[in-house]
Amino acid sequence: MPIRTRKGDAMTRSDKPILRALAGETLPTPPIWMMRQAGRYLPEYRATRAEAGDFLSLCYNSDLATEVTLQPIRRYGFDAAILFADILLVPQALGADLWFVTGEGPRLSTITDAQGLNALKPVSDIHETLNPIYQTLRNLSGALPSETTLIGFAGAPWTVATYMIAGRGTPDQGPAHALKAENRPVFEALLDRITEATIEYLSAQIDAGAEVIKLFDSWAGSLNDEDFAAYALAPAQRIIAALKARHPETPIIAFPRGAGPRYEGFARATGADCVALDDGVDAAWAAAHVQIDGCVQGNLASSHMVTGGEALVQETHAIVDALSHGPHIFNLGHGITPDADPDNVQRMIDAVRTR
Ligand code: CP3
Repeated sequence: MPIRTRKGDAMTRSDKPILRALAGETLPTPPIWMMRQAGRYLPEYRATRAEAGDFLSLCYNSDLATEVTLQPIRRYGFDAAILFADILLVPQALGADLWFVTGEGPRLSTITDAQGLNALKPVSDIHETLNPIYQTLRNLSGALPSETTLIGFAGAPWTVATYMIAGRGTPDQGPAHALKAENRPVFEALLDRITEATIEYLSAQIDAGAEVIKLFDSWAGSLNDEDFAAYALAPAQRIIAALKARHPETPIIAFPRGAGPRYEGFARATGADCVALDDGVDAAWAAAHVQIDGCVQGNLASSHMVTGGEALVQETHAIVDALSHGPHIFNLGHGITPDADPDNVQRMIDAVRTR
């Protein structure tokens, strides 16, 4: 059934620019959204977060999480809204303790042996914790402009495991690499458990209204080739196959950050509809080696959102031009940082839409 846009013209689900790009269409202007678009660089986000108390209370408060998801849509008119939540809610739903230390980041109870693994809750229990997240998606489905696509997400198993094993973010994922070397059965069983939970979580997100799923493997780049195949590519392939079996219409964006040359063929091997490129990837190389398989997303360095100026415009134009011969969703190469200037976000959007 046709739905109405703000401008009043008929628009069906398949007319949404993000969904068209994900279906393989080359659009005259790439649709645009931004990783961490609801975040601390926005004064309205900081105000709502203060109202919620802390970050996790904000994630689990469906009304306030809906509000912060909508803030960047109202301010900038992005083509997609991404659910406001965090990849570490899955470990929490599996029974890990989780808290955030202001100015430092996440802390979790650690899993380093079979005992810790066995203490986790069964996958079927996760929804008890995650129900408010599904409510946020239901709220958003009814609240977004009809041309705006709703993206749900989860962390990929390797990235989530790095936090569950170390109990915090680490520069080199050392503790996870150590467990992989010292106790591979426990390491692999943990990845399996996260994989199964992620399938159920994402499937429930789609049932609640997510139109696209993004899988964040932020630390994929620290895996050597053999481990990348086993612990980044294979779990992504498994998650995508399970989701496609249940929800064949829902496109999936994979983000194996830091994959480098291993971006080539990643979409084909995993069944992803799109790969998100980090800013270490040359756009002309990506056009020749990655975009030939379908849609790519990315990949302006987020530092431009801090520094602005003519370099921001030039680099935005260069990326738009290099990827203009195939399906492309414009985005940053990683999340926007709290020190970014909100005016630079508007400059980026203008540079994309007037090119
Ligand atoms: O993109 C979005 O805006 C959607 C929401 C979202 C958040 N985190 C909100 C958030 C998404 C998709 C994430 C993903 C996430 N979370 C990743 C993978 C993507 C990436 O950035 O590499 C990772 C590794 C995490 C774990 C996490 N959450 C860390 C390491 C931190 C602390 C670092 C920081 O920026 O403070 C968070 C907190 C977090 N997640 C914030 C937001 C808006 C900041 C919380 C605050 O308000 O203080």
